[in-house]
Amino acid sequence: MDVQLQKWKKEYGDIHTIWFGDRAIVTLHDIPTILETFVKDGETYAGRPHQKWDDIIREGNNGVVFSEGPKWRENRRFALHVFRNFGLGRNIMQERVLVEVNSLITDIKDEILNGKQEISIHDTIDISVGSIINNLTFGYRYGKDKKDEFQHVKQFSTTLVSQFSNPMYRLMDRDPEYYKKFPICNSYYKYFTAEVQKIKDFFYNLINEHRKAINLESDEDPTDFVEAYLRQQHKLKMEGGVKENENNFDDAQLYATVLDLWVAGQETTSNTLAWVCAYLIQYPEVQQNLHKELDEVIGNDRIITLDDKSNLNYVNAVIAETQRYCNLATANLFHRVTKDTKIHGYNIPVDTIITHQVSTVLMNEKYFPEPEKFRPERFLDENGKFFQPPELIPFGVGKRACLGEGLARLELYLFTANIANQFKLNYPTEKKDFAKRLLKGSAVPSPYLCKIQNRF
Ligand code: HEM
Repeated sequence: MDVQLQKWKKEYGDIHTIWFGDRAIVTLHDIPTILETFVKDGETYAGRPHQKWDDIIREGNNGVVFSEGPKWRENRRFALHVFRNFGLGRNIMQERVLVEVNSLITDIKDEILNGKQEISIHDTIDISVGSIINNLTFGYRYGKDKKDEFQHVKQFSTTLVSQFSNPMYRLMDRDPEYYKKFPICNSYYKYFTAEVQKIKDFFYNLINEHRKAINLESDEDPTDFVEAYLRQQHKLKMEGGVKENENNFDDAQLYATVLDLWVAGQETTSNTLAWVCAYLIQYPEVQQNLHKELDEVIGNDRIITLDDKSNLNYVNAVIAETQRYCNLATANLFHRVTKDTKIHGYNIPVDTIITHQVSTVLMNEKYFPEPEKFRPERFLDENGKFFQPPELIPFGVGKRACLGEGLARLELYLFTANIANQFKLNYPTEKKDFAKRLLKGSAVPSPYLCKIQNRF
């Protein structure tokens, strides 16, 4: 998809319209225009086109990824506020990420001790990242006894993301209730709604269990998102005056937000970390430079934390270059223009579907010379200090930029620095088609094994 977008950009320029089925999408590719529109005039570009399937998946205009209007605004602000609180003072965020980093290191060391020659580091990362998001939303991790639970939610998340590019899903999105009257559409409808029902039952059940376990009368600080949400619901109820149809903090909204945090936060981060490891293997000189920096700055097997971040310039550069090069979001989410506007003299009427194309920006040779080369040094200045240019926008920009950016950055840093410090990664014996780039909603490395050695 990103390769095709790249070709169209070359052929039709930095602003053009592409057709997605019968939907026209205005697409922006250059940074000055993207900043002028999505950032400076953020409100105009903050809408999302309504997806009919969402009436089934998210029970209407709910959640934070596809909702819009006051409900989206209040809930996005609330989620950011909760996440920020977790990152401050008690620093619950870093603690929870480090629990998983430690657990991953122990698991890999055990495998090495047990004589295992080659491992799937992506699988190990996958459950660690899933555990972090689950711990932040529901307050518990997927320890050894909960691996099946992780697989269950993961399987649903993968199904949901992959349906996005399924032509049947796209066709029926115009009106699933109408299309289900036709033979083939009918079996797809049955299959998909049954999948949705499974995950709804699962998340609603967890929410209800949580509700029973919390004493809402106490004024303890919440330690997970669902608890914070339930306390907010209680507070609004106690203050009175929330009318049924004006309640932006109802249970459907909570369910859909939990679903969104899980789906948007798990695969993205896990896949990026799998790319980090794959590139360290494919570019051994980069891995060597990384080890050199870690030996000079850290120099032993202690756990690396945020306190070390400003001294680990090369680690930061490797992460930045991985995010640019793996180009995860091959096609960015669609936005909806909320009022009539103009871009470079072109009329853009209200309700036009529009997006800024993250993937073509990250591969633009004007911003990143020789973009097809993996070169972390491009993010180091003449003094070897890490810097982040404004064109590096893997999380999108504007009012709808990634809500989990802070958490994702924390995870990318703590996992990359600690995995690289503890281990040396190498190709497996069979390295044919190693970590090929597959497009499954986002860019995923094909399953790969790696040889792994302790460094201490
Ligand atoms: C490396 C990891 C990640 C990348 C590359 C990434 C990238 C993105 C991008 C490109 C968007 C769309 C921006 C737009 O609509 O223009 C987005 C939206 C979003 N992301 Fe992420 N993301 C990552 C991790 C996370 C995490 C960890 C979470 C949550 C825990 C998260 C939650 C969200 C949400 C809720 C939205 C929708 C925001 C809204 O519409 O208001 N993401 N992300």
